[in-house]
Amino acid sequence: MTATRPAPEGTRLGELWRILPEEATASGDGVLEIGGVAVTELAERFGTPLHVYDEAGLRRQIRRFVDGLRDRWPNSEVLFASKSLPAVGMYRIAQEEGLSVDIAGGGELQLALAAGVDPARLHFHGNAKTDAELRMALDAGIDTIIVDNDDELDRLERLLERPQRLLLRVIPGVEAKTHASQATGGVHSKFGLPLDQAERAIARMQTHPLMRFEGVHLHIGSQILDTAQFAEAVAKISTVGTFGTYDVGGGLGISYTYAEEAPSVESYLDAIVAAARAYLPADARLLIEPGRSIVARAGVTLYRITTVKRTGRTFVAVDGGLADQMDIALTQQRYEAIIADRLHEPWTETVQLVGRQCESGDLLVDGAPMPPARVGDLVVMAGTGAYAYTMSNNYNGALKPAIVFVGDGDARLVTRRETYDDLLATHAPALAGALV
Ligand code: LLP
Repeated sequence: MTATRPAPEGTRLGELWRILPEEATASGDGVLEIGGVAVTELAERFGTPLHVYDEAGLRRQIRRFVDGLRDRWPNSEVLFASKSLPAVGMYRIAQEEGLSVDIAGGGELQLALAAGVDPARLHFHGNAKTDAELRMALDAGIDTIIVDNDDELDRLERLLERPQRLLLRVIPGVEAKTHASQATGGVHSKFGLPLDQAERAIARMQTHPLMRFEGVHLHIGSQILDTAQFAEAVAKISTVGTFGTYDVGGGLGISYTYAEEAPSVESYLDAIVAAARAYLPADARLLIEPGRSIVARAGVTLYRITTVKRTGRTFVAVDGGLADQMDIALTQQRYEAIIADRLHEPWTETVQLVGRQCESGDLLVDGAPMPPARVGDLVVMAGTGAYAYTMSNNYNGALKPAIVFVGDGDARLVTRRETYDDLLATHAPALAGALV
C-alpha cells in the first residue's frame, strides 16, 4: 500500500501534515508512518510513551540554518541550543551536520563530550555557573564561555590558567511577545548584565591577561513568531559597542497548532541578517543559537490510550502526561494530537486528552477532535521535539521515555527508556537490580 498524506472529510488531517514531521505520511490502511516506519511498529518495538524523531527532516532543517546563514553572512556560526534536546544521538547529528553547540551546564557538557563533539565547538551558557562546572569546561578546552555576571568574572579570575575566549551576555531590554517564562530579554531579566553595566565588565575582561573578550551575546526569549523582534535585538546589541563577535541567541518559534503560522527559517535569517547589515560592523562574526526551531517539528510523542471515560465530558487518558510534557503546565503551550492508527476515520468527538499524573493541569490537549477513542489506540502529539524530553521528570514515579530516530524505513534507539532500576539506583541503591 502506498504512503500518502490524506485529508479525509470530517478531519483536520490536511492541516496537520504542516506541523507533523516532514517525513510523516499515512499508510494505505490509515496508520501514521514517520520516516517510513508505522507508529504501530514503533509502539510495539520500543513501548510508549516514546519520543520519535524524523532524522531526515531534522538534518534538512539543520542545513536550512547552516547553509542559510552562511549564504547570507559568511563569517557566521550556528550553535545548536542543546537544552532543547540534550541526547547523545542528537549531539552526534549536530556535529555531523556542521553545527556548533551551546551547553548550559555540566551535564550537557558531559553529554556533548560523550557524543564526541569537538570541544572547540562548544559554548557555555548559564547565569549561575559553579566553580566545578567552569573548571570542567576549562579542562575540556571549550571554545567560549558566555559570561553572565561579575561574580562569574571573579570565579574566572581565580580559575583561568590559560587564555580563554569570552562573550558577555547583555540584557537588551526587548520584551519578547511570548509566554512570560520564555521571555528573557526584558529589563528585569535574570540573565546577563544591563547595558549600562556592560561597559565595566567588558573593560575588566579586556584588561585581564588571560581573558580574550570577543564580543557580546543576547537571547530575547523562545517561541517568538514575530521576526521584527529579532531585528530589534540586533539593533540593540549594536549599541553596546564595536566588537569582533555578536551572538544574537535563539528563539524562533514553530507552528504548534492548526491556527499558528510560524515564520520560515529563511525569513528569520533574512530579518536577522538585514539588521546585521544595517547595524553591525561588516567584518563581525555573527552567531545564532536556535534550539526549538531545529528539533521541535521533527519530533512527536507516541502514547497509548489507557482509559476512555464519559462523564458529561469525554476524557481520553494516555500512558504518559505532564511528566513528559512539562511545558503544558509551565508555559501553557498548546499542542495538537491525533489518533494515529485510524487516520481515515472522521473526527466526530471532541475530547479532553489527559495524562496520568496527579494534577488537573495534566491536560495534554483541551478539546482534541478525534474519532471515538478506544483503549489501546495510539495517540501522536505533534511538535514535541523540543524541550519535552529535556524537561521530563519522575512525577508519580514516571519513567523518562525512550528516544528513537527513524528514517528510510528503519528505527534506531538513541536514548533508552528509564527503568524502575534506574529509579532505585538513586533512591535505594541496595535494591537496584533486585527488580525484574
Ligand atoms: N540561547 C539561550 C541562551 C537560551 O537560553 C535558549 C533557550 C536558546 C538559545 C534557544 O532558544 P530556542 O531557539 O529553543 O527558542 N522550557 C521552555 C523553553 C525555554 C527556552 C530556554 N532557553 C519551553 O518549554 O518552552
